[in-house]
Amino acid sequence: MTKACYPGSFDPITYGHLDVIERARRVFDEVVVAVSGSPSNLSKNALFTIDERLEMITEVTQHLDGIKVMNFEGLLVEFCRQIDANAVVKGLRTVSDFDYEMQMAQMNARMGIETVFVVAGPKYSYLSSSLMKEVTKLGGEVTGLVPPTVERSLKEKLKR
Ligand code: PNS
Repeated sequence: MTKACYPGSFDPITYGHLDVIERARRVFDEVVVAVSGSPSNLSKNALFTIDERLEMITEVTQHLDGIKVMNFEGLLVEFCRQIDANAVVKGLRTVSDFDYEMQMAQMNARMGIETVFVVAGPKYSYLSSSLMKEVTKLGGEVTGLVPPTVERSLKEKLKR
């Protein structure tokens, strides 16, 4: 059985992330979506708590089998060892993603885990969690870019 670990902040999950999850699942028997951070120590920049993010991801991946949603803290390679993952999966949208991801992939390879990249579909290549938060905060619509439940949560959190 092959298992991939798809790590990230997912603050919040977008349709771009969901696309990577679905496509990774076609390659691996199981995909563990790994939300980084400490549940008791909300990062200054995070909008959603770890529990909120885990709940949203679980809800929007309900229709898929072979998906597990977990929280992790510390080194990603350690977590991958604990869950017995064969590889890390990352989504690549832009050249700037590539620069950042390349460095992490090389370091993670040195520490013992390989990275498999899923190239973002053109439909989603401009999406980011930060952009979803900014647009919602300023009164714009993110319909069709994040799942409806995430859209509602964004509006609730960011309503002025
Ligand atoms: O969604 P993000 O914020 O781009 O996710 C970044 C994340 C969580 C995947 C990355 O920061 C990470 O792997 N953190 C775990 C700590 C770690 O292993 N650092 C060394 C990476 S080589």
